[in-house]
Amino acid sequence: MMIRTRGLTKTFTRGKSIVEAVRGIDIDVREGELVALLGPNGAGKSTTLRMLTTLLTPTSGTAQIAGHSIVDDRDAVRRSIGYVGQGSGAGNNQRVRDELFTQGLCYGMAKKESRERAAELIDALDLSEFAGRTVSTLSGGQRRRLDIALGLVHRPPLIFLDEPTTGMDPQSRANLWEHILRLRTETGATIVLTTHYLEEADSMAERVVVIDKGVVIADDTATALKDELASDLVVVSMSDASAAARAAAVAERISTVRDVTVTGNRLQIRSRNGDTVIPELLRESEAVGARAVAVELSRPTLDDVFLGLTGRSLRETHTVAR
Ligand SMILES: Nc1ncnc2c1ncn2[C@@H]1O[C@H](COP(=O)(O)OP(=O)(O)O)[C@@H](O)[C@H]1O
Ligand SMILES: [Mg+2]
Repeated sequence: MMIRTRGLTKTFTRGKSIVEAVRGIDIDVREGELVALLGPNGAGKSTTLRMLTTLLTPTSGTAQIAGHSIVDDRDAVRRSIGYVGQGSGAGNNQRVRDELFTQGLCYGMAKKESRERAAELIDALDLSEFAGRTVSTLSGGQRRRLDIALGLVHRPPLIFLDEPTTGMDPQSRANLWEHILRLRTETGATIVLTTHYLEEADSMAERVVVIDKGVVIADDTATALKDELASDLVVVSMSDASAAARAAAVAERISTVRDVTVTGNRLQIRSRNGDTVIPELLRESEAVGARAVAVELSRPTLDDVFLGLTGRSLRETHTVAR
């Protein structure tokens, strides 16, 4: 197990106000996994990462990183991890290549080793085009790639990335993801990242841990979460309202169907496996003389999962990008 947390909490006290940022988080991450922590602003994602990277001391609970306690064994934890915080870490007037080289020296590498490592990372994250430029001239996406390279200098088996793609345009995000995925295949590193982009967590991570108000409210593959916690939506237009009423009665008898509503000649069905419901529904409806004229199937998104769990839409709660 690369990460194991039990009842991890963090309470901040600012004057008289108390913020329970993390209220009891249990997460297990196996070696080699790629896990996305998904949740709205203020859910406690960054605070969790900052505890796991030993930057913050937990208020209570325990966590081990590669078997080392984040409280009693900080140095060992720090040697096992790379951390790229929210916002940009690199930020001076050094050239990209020198920034990486200096970072290697900081980790105690000899000059030759550090130079070689910088060259490797420049290659791995496609930085060669601007390796001679000063950091301050890079675009957001380029800078983020440099940040990730900096987090990888000492070859950590575990990498934490806090909102690596926030604020980037879709193309740069896709490009960064390519690098993250390639990194993973090439180094076998365990990667834990946070995001509030639903589509990203859905399509890229193999496991999604949904965090809301300081607790884990769901933890599985995106597909499993959608199957278990949200329904497909089947909308059928019938020839007329009376046909819709008859088809609704048919739909109610299908075992996977969870909810049926009729508005005029339109039938809305929430169901698991909507794709298999459609042929059965059409066949049985025909048998009672109810004819469909159009059918539409929508698959749920992770936002439907979040909505189902919290009653709120993640899209709406996330109004400001931080
Ligand atoms: N240093 C701090 N002092 C006081 N409150 C904080 C501090 N850091 C974070 N918080 C609060 O803790 C909650 C969780 O924040 P954070 O972990 O940054 O959430 P996320 O990364 O999911 O957006 C928020 O309400 C935030 O305002
Ligand atoms: Mg954050």
